[in-house]
Amino acid sequence: MMNNERPGLKELLREARSEGYAVGAFNITCYLSCRAAIAAANETAVPILIQTSVGTVKKFGVDELFAMMDLLRRGARVPVLFHLDHCTDPELAKKCVDAGWDSVMIDMSAKPLEENIRITAEIKKYAKNRGAGVEGELGIIKGVEEEIAADEQQLAGYEDSIKFIDGTDVDAFAPAIGTAHGLYKKAVNLNYDLVKRLSGSTAVPIVVHGGTGLTAEQFHALIRGGASKINVSTALKYAYIDGLRGYWEDHRDEYNPIKLNDAAETSVRKVVAEHILRFKPPR
Ligand code: 13P
Repeated sequence: MMNNERPGLKELLREARSEGYAVGAFNITCYLSCRAAIAAANETAVPILIQTSVGTVKKFGVDELFAMMDLLRRGARVPVLFHLDHCTDPELAKKCVDAGWDSVMIDMSAKPLEENIRITAEIKKYAKNRGAGVEGELGIIKGVEEEIAADEQQLAGYEDSIKFIDGTDVDAFAPAIGTAHGLYKKAVNLNYDLVKRLSGSTAVPIVVHGGTGLTAEQFHALIRGGASKINVSTALKYAYIDGLRGYWEDHRDEYNPIKLNDAAETSVRKVVAEHILRFKPPR
C-alpha cells in the first residue's frame, strides 16, 4: 500500500537525524496502549513509530490490529508509522505489508550471515514494491522479546555490517551493540564506535534495540553518534501494569473499568512522552 501523506521509514529516520533527534518506536499491546502512545506523540509534537510484536499481531489478527491502529492514527497530528517488530516469519511480514504496515523488521539474526542477507533482501524487495520499508538485524541482542530469547549476546562487527547493508539495501539497520531486551541487571557496555562508524560511512539509519533502562546520557551519546530509531517495549508493559495495579490497590472496592483503564492509559502516555523527550539531546 503506497502512502502519499506520511514519510516512509527511511525518510522519517533520516529527517529525524538531520534534526538531531531519534524517533521512538514504542511497542503497543492493545487499544489503550496504542491510544496512549499516539496521545504522547501529539502532546510532544514529535513523530513516533507504533511498533507491534508478532505476539500482538497474533493476539488480534493482522486485519483487526491494523484497523484498530489506523482508527487511532486518524487523531494523530504528527506522522505516526506502523512497524512490525522482530518478525522471524517471512510470510507474516508479507501479510503485514499487504495489510498496510508502513514497515517491517525481518529478524533473521539467528541465521548465518549469508542466509540472513538473502531472506532480508527478499523481504526488502517485496516490501519496496508495495511502498513499505524494512529493518534488518545483525548479531544477537541478549534478553527476551516475547518469543525471541537469547542468553548470550553476539556483537555485530563493522565489516559484516557493511556486507549486510550492501547486500540487503535495508531502510533501517539494527546492529547488536551491547543493548539487551528487558530490564538491565548490570551496567551495559555499548559499542558507540560502531554506531558512529556506520553512520559516518553509510546512509542507512541505525536502530537501537533494548531502550528500556538506558540512561539519558547513553541515549544522547547514541543519537549524537547517529542512531535515529530507538525501540522501547518493556517500559510500556511496566507502565501499563503498574498503572492498573496502583489504581486497583487504592480503589479495591470500586468496580469502574473506565477509571481503571484510564490509569493504565495515563501511565503509558507519561512513559512514552518521557522517552520521546529524552530522544532529543540538547545541542
Ligand atoms: P526493551 O523491551 O528493552 O525496551 O526493548 C525493546 C526492543 O528492542 C523491541 O525490539
